[in-house]
Amino acid sequence: MASNAATLREDSLGQTQRRDLWWAQPVAMGAAFVAFIIYATYRGLANEYFAFGHGVVGSDGQPVHPESAYFLSPFYSPLLALPSWVPKWMGPAIFVMWMPAGFRLTCYYARRAYYRALFADPPACAVAEYCKDNYKGERGVWIFQNIHRYFLYLALLLVCMHVYHVIEALRWPGEGGERMTFRVSVGTLVLLVDLVFLALYVFSCHSLRHLVGGRLNCFAGGGDNTRYKLWRCCSALNEYHGLYFWCSLFTVGFADFYIWMVASGRIHDLRLI
Ligand code: FES
Repeated sequence: MASNAATLREDSLGQTQRRDLWWAQPVAMGAAFVAFIIYATYRGLANEYFAFGHGVVGSDGQPVHPESAYFLSPFYSPLLALPSWVPKWMGPAIFVMWMPAGFRLTCYYARRAYYRALFADPPACAVAEYCKDNYKGERGVWIFQNIHRYFLYLALLLVCMHVYHVIEALRWPGEGGERMTFRVSVGTLVLLVDLVFLALYVFSCHSLRHLVGGRLNCFAGGGDNTRYKLWRCCSALNEYHGLYFWCSLFTVGFADFYIWMVASGRIHDLRLI
């Protein structure tokens, strides 16, 4: 019977001496990844019911909840006006979703999660894997994962866009077409929660931590150094990076789903203030 890591490597995929439910986490994560990819792909290609509020006209030419503030699904942010020569089946989401998708796909935490959950390479700690002795690290085609630091800049822009959309969701048309007034609805809170978790996810990024505090052997100036303080903040958030990844994945999907339901008339966006 295998008794250490060296002999485990000789065993077949999934063999281990672990007695806990080590497979539960990769299975749950794999299911979540697949479900989100299917949902996001469908919604990105659907090209309908991605916005409602004043200024929004539906596919039937009718205004969609003109009495409401403007709400845009995060999957379609920033909303692009496509030229007429672009085929109708190619909605604006296709031209922007590659940014958050690339950022998440190359995320250090996500890589570990989907290498385990989707490729079983390895399935978990101290569990025999398929590739055994030919581990080469992220070389060859996997070198593209290094592009994550550049996706970070796009993700920071996306955070700014989400801030803008929350502000838009606070500006409601006044009675009788008067100037805009400040109001809050359930939809506003849904977008706000999405923004908070997206910001926590981006600001806890390993690449951002390196960007603000990297390339130094020591922080001259100690505790008063601005870079040191920023690095401390990023490091504190970075501890929960995996949690923020999943929370932001869920809240961005839910924000799109909520806007889909309201825009299609299935539910009503309840105004709170
Ligand atoms: Fe996860 Fe950068 S490491 S978002």
